[in-house]
Amino acid sequence: MTEQHKGTALVTGASSGIGAVYAHRLAKRGYDLILVARNAERLSELATRLTRETGRTVETIPADLGNKADLARVESVLKSDRSITLLVNNAGVGGTAPLLAADVDKMQAMIDLNVTALMRLSYAGVPGFVARGGGAIINIASIVAIAPEVLNGVYGASKAFVLAFSQSLKHELADKNIRIQAVLPGATATEFWNIAGTPVEHLPTEIVMSAEDMVDAALVGFDQGELATIPALEDGGLLTAYEGARQALMPHLSRSAPAARYKAA
Ligand SMILES: NC(=O)c1ccc[n+]([C@@H]2O[C@H](COP(=O)([O-])OP(=O)(O)OC[C@H]3O[C@@H](n4cnc5c(N)ncnc54)[C@H](OP(=O)(O)O)[C@@H]3O)[C@@H](O)[C@H]2O)c1
Repeated sequence: MTEQHKGTALVTGASSGIGAVYAHRLAKRGYDLILVARNAERLSELATRLTRETGRTVETIPADLGNKADLARVESVLKSDRSITLLVNNAGVGGTAPLLAADVDKMQAMIDLNVTALMRLSYAGVPGFVARGGGAIINIASIVAIAPEVLNGVYGASKAFVLAFSQSLKHELADKNIRIQAVLPGATATEFWNIAGTPVEHLPTEIVMSAEDMVDAALVGFDQGELATIPALEDGGLLTAYEGARQALMPHLSRSAPAARYKAA
């Protein structure tokens, strides 16, 4: 049984892994879908299956979000399709190599996708949400947003951008009925790891979650109105304390005089 119609969700990176699970779960929740990724065949197979299983309308847009013209096509859909109520910025690539072993052009491509595309799609979608009186954005970050030492540093920094951008969006759009969530998955069993350079089988199984469990948990966090959801974090109090420390710092970060400990001798 599907639920009541909720408008259309545009999901990037929907051809595999986490994005494909979001597509399935959102269709079950009553969203029509627009699925974006490069692999047209996979997208259309998924669209056919989801329409058969849920009866929802599923469109596909084959697009390379690292390519300006393709990205602009998806931006224009977000600007013009008034049925869109949810944007899931999920498409992303990672890396596991340190700076000395990584190729800078691959790092740039990672930023183009993980940062630039996510930012431009958000800019394309938000004005319509505001005009229509509401909407939602789910940004897939990563635990490396707050633990950049774990994998490739550019990957961590790109996900720190996603978290900071989400925090700012939530603040800016607080009175506009626009829900913003950043999801911070830990290791999740998808093709991501092969593409990033470390097969997921090389990780200890106790730290790897299935994409289905990850997305289902993240959607519970979404329903609870969380800004930052870390599906694997058992003790939610740790995240509350982390956020509390950040909030406590904020009023003290700008002043006319340097702090006493930085006074030159
Ligand atoms: N797996 C993990 O452990 C993990 C942990 C934390 C965060 N994440 C994040 O979760 C998100 C989804 O990753 P995943 O784990 O589901 O990996 P995945 O299975 O490799 O999925 C990545 C998706 O992004 C799409 N994509 C890649 N490059 C693209 C491009 N240039 N233009 C458009 N689409 C592109 C891929 O489709 P095409 O190849 O068809 O384009 C695919 O649908 C990413 O943002 C990733 O950083 C993953």
